[in-house]
Amino acid sequence: MPRFLHFTDMHLRHHQPGSASNPMRLSRLMPVTLEQLGLRIGEHKPDVTIMTGDLLDIPHEMTDGENSATSLYAQLLAKITADYQLVKNWFEGTGIPYLVIPGNHDHEPTFEKIFGNTRGPRDLAGFRFFSFWDRLGTNRQPERVGASADLFHTALNAPENDCPQIHLQHYMIDPPTRSNGWQYEYKGAAKMNRAVEQSCRVRAVLSGHYHPGSLVNTIGGVTHSLPPAFCEAPHIYRIYDFNGDKAPVITDFSLDT
Ligand SMILES: [Fe+2]
Repeated sequence: MPRFLHFTDMHLRHHQPGSASNPMRLSRLMPVTLEQLGLRIGEHKPDVTIMTGDLLDIPHEMTDGENSATSLYAQLLAKITADYQLVKNWFEGTGIPYLVIPGNHDHEPTFEKIFGNTRGPRDLAGFRFFSFWDRLGTNRQPERVGASADLFHTALNAPENDCPQIHLQHYMIDPPTRSNGWQYEYKGAAKMNRAVEQSCRVRAVLSGHYHPGSLVNTIGGVTHSLPPAFCEAPHIYRIYDFNGDKAPVITDFSLDT
């Protein structure tokens, strides 16, 4: 039975200075917390470990692009690179295959330099995994456009992809979610949802970004899952046990219990 362990939104800072602006996000605790998660991975023995973005909590001055010629930018970039390397070393050290994508608090060029192009597809444990690197639009609502939209279309329609799939993405398709002025589901999410269901290929859509988390099953039998942010206590991770065509058995664990 394929088993997958999923965690998201770590917002780690170790070599980078300071912590996330939101004090709920325990950025500086994350290296120690990762070591604890590594022990749990050894106990659960998943076939794949999945992380759906916001690995790091990049300072805003690095993401606005205006300061890229300054020495401060160069110093921060070196620290960001060191933090991504720390996370990569941790994944490699678990000895378990892993899939990871960037989120809106990541620095995509440095992420890609360390982890490579993780978009896939990649076949693991009887599933074809597609990873979508999407971005927020001008109104802070996520969008799937360009090459990512093309990959989505190919996954759902190309004859060579007619197989059980799991989609990984930082943002959610379902349920529609609005909080504090942010629209968390994709622009055009209803249409995306219909395309996913009509393909009859996708068993699960695994996301991050919305820190309280969510879990729904559509009428078409697709699991849309978003664990609570790992950076916030009690540091939850989610396990999926698949058994044939049945809906996966889903269990949440926390490091604080
Ligand atoms: Fe996040």
